[in-house]
Amino acid sequence: MKASNGLWREQPLDSVFPELLREIEIYETEIELRKQGKMDEKLFAETRLRRGAYGQRYDNGQRWDGKETQILQFPSDEIKPTKGVNTLWDAPGMQRIKIPFGGMTPQQLEVMAELAEEYSDGIGHVTTRQDFQLHFVHVDDTPALMRRLAAVDITTREACGNSVRNVTACPFSGVCSTEAFDVTPYAKGLAYFLLGHPDVQDFGRKFKVAFSGCRDEACGLVNMHDMGVIAVTRVDAEGKEQRGFELYVGGGLGTVPHQAKLFEAFLLEEELLPTAQAISRVFARLGEKKNRNRARIKFLVAQLGIEEFKHLVLEERATLPPDPRWIAYLSELHLLEEKPLRPAQSLNGAARSEDFDRWYKTNLWHQKQEGYATAIITLPLGDITADQMRAVADIARRFTYGTIRTTVDQNLVLRWISEADLPEVYSELQAIGLGGAGAGTIVDITSCPGTDTCKLGIASSRGLAGELRQRLAEKSHTLDEAVQNLHIKVSGCFNSCGQHHVADLGFYGVSRHSGNYTVPHFQVVLGGQWTQNAGSYGLAMGAVPAKRIPEVVERLTGRYVAERQKDESFQNFIQRICKVQIKKMLDDLTRLPAHDEDPTLYTD
Ligand code: HEM
Ligand code: SF4
Repeated sequence: MKASNGLWREQPLDSVFPELLREIEIYETEIELRKQGKMDEKLFAETRLRRGAYGQRYDNGQRWDGKETQILQFPSDEIKPTKGVNTLWDAPGMQRIKIPFGGMTPQQLEVMAELAEEYSDGIGHVTTRQDFQLHFVHVDDTPALMRRLAAVDITTREACGNSVRNVTACPFSGVCSTEAFDVTPYAKGLAYFLLGHPDVQDFGRKFKVAFSGCRDEACGLVNMHDMGVIAVTRVDAEGKEQRGFELYVGGGLGTVPHQAKLFEAFLLEEELLPTAQAISRVFARLGEKKNRNRARIKFLVAQLGIEEFKHLVLEERATLPPDPRWIAYLSELHLLEEKPLRPAQSLNGAARSEDFDRWYKTNLWHQKQEGYATAIITLPLGDITADQMRAVADIARRFTYGTIRTTVDQNLVLRWISEADLPEVYSELQAIGLGGAGAGTIVDITSCPGTDTCKLGIASSRGLAGELRQRLAEKSHTLDEAVQNLHIKVSGCFNSCGQHHVADLGFYGVSRHSGNYTVPHFQVVLGGQWTQNAGSYGLAMGAVPAKRIPEVVERLTGRYVAERQKDESFQNFIQRICKVQIKKMLDDLTRLPAHDEDPTLYTD
């Protein structure tokens, strides 16, 4: 435990959410009770997880502290096992930190850097749902860490457990030319309305909400969420523009992926919060509680049918006691409106290096506000060191009004950069090792934590993602344009935390047995749709030993380039050449030689 932890308890921290501080005190007492053996492990695990404090796996007993590899000190060396899947509750774990709609200020990023350095391995990790994660955090340190986050208005409450998880939103909301309107204040409004709400405390399973500004792009991934909304507008009888949402429910990934169903084509903005509350009540009342594998809302919606589900929700909504918070935030939407720091100025005529041009092509979005751009900072595997976080915070302060967001493809974005400043921003990013091009391309691979740190992992998703990234980056200049724009996503197991269902080329870890060996494989999932808010899921094609996945990518992309019809998307290509043909094409790769013949294939 850090000696300074007590100071953070005594320090009167000025959080805008005082109830969060009370929450942390309760949690601290629970840790103490657990230590004294007065709290049952199962109960403690539940309370810990609800605050985002996970257990972690240590297969190699080491940690990289951002500078060098350290051998881990476990709290109970004499009691085994302290490594592998069954680590003890007081071994260093992972802390998930909620970042609603991915929005961060430079100050928050700096605090994250401090916490990463002081309590973790010096590395912050951006997740596939816009959260931050710190690994190797000792449970004794988590209350102090939470207090320091609360001081900058960040909470870890309900970051895990059967609760409403981080509310995500397009990282370009407010600056994107295809959006109906900026969903940021609505995402924030809903996130804090539901946080700790009594009606969301009795779910059988987690509940994930996403916001999108438009239907066709991918940023919101609405269709794969328990509840998702897309901004829409219409003109009312008096000719005035009305804001509303297309509301979807019952989507989700995992072993049984479901596409969300349309609940309402135009939900008025003032109906958003009460409808979410009513959905929560129906889910809490009728959702499965015993069998975790059937407890997500997708199963309830499928079982009842969307019409009956909707009927129950509307009935519930009519009985809700009116709550002023349902609409209070609507009069304050403008408070979250962002503004630029520097005047809009175009880049015309400025000298541009080849590297800058490459970065400009893939990592820049022109905002709807002329003269401004949003820059994507690609974080390989979602990782960013403490020093890089501080430097990004500095850059955000110097060139923008501090408008940083995390993205679901595990990157950061800086919004509101005057276009004339782009070369300078680029060279500053390059100086801290974050000037990599290729955002949103085949090299920008998404991966869950996998066997590096996740207890449920079957294969090394990060290992595979890193390997593919390196191989593809080496030849990225020569890759066909159609291949460059493909997405690769990797999960360490069927739970789909890496969102492999919505990738062109998705992989998830499975194990296969051969003699006395358990051999890590990846199931190949092809043709998922990233655009149209994760519009459709990929097809499983067969499991291949982990080491051979680069060859799978090589063959599939090669064939796509060779046989692609004019402008044919990868999804259409996969459907056209059909599963039988693809299986045939990968058949030799799926066959595992005996261990003596090729032992290298038996590890990942
Ligand atoms: C029963 C166990 C689990 C299931 C069924 C599960 C399922 C999922 C699914 C389906 C997603 C992503 C897509 C979505 O949000 O719908 C997700 C997100 C994620 N999962 Fe898991 N997961 C499990 C356990 C874990 C564990 C143990 C870890 C790591 C310690 C983990 C790490 C993540 C991460 C980093 C994300 C991105 C999420 C976020 O920031 O909220 N998951 N999980
Ligand atoms: S997909 Fe599996 S291995 Fe990856 S984080 Fe989720 S549970 Fe862990």
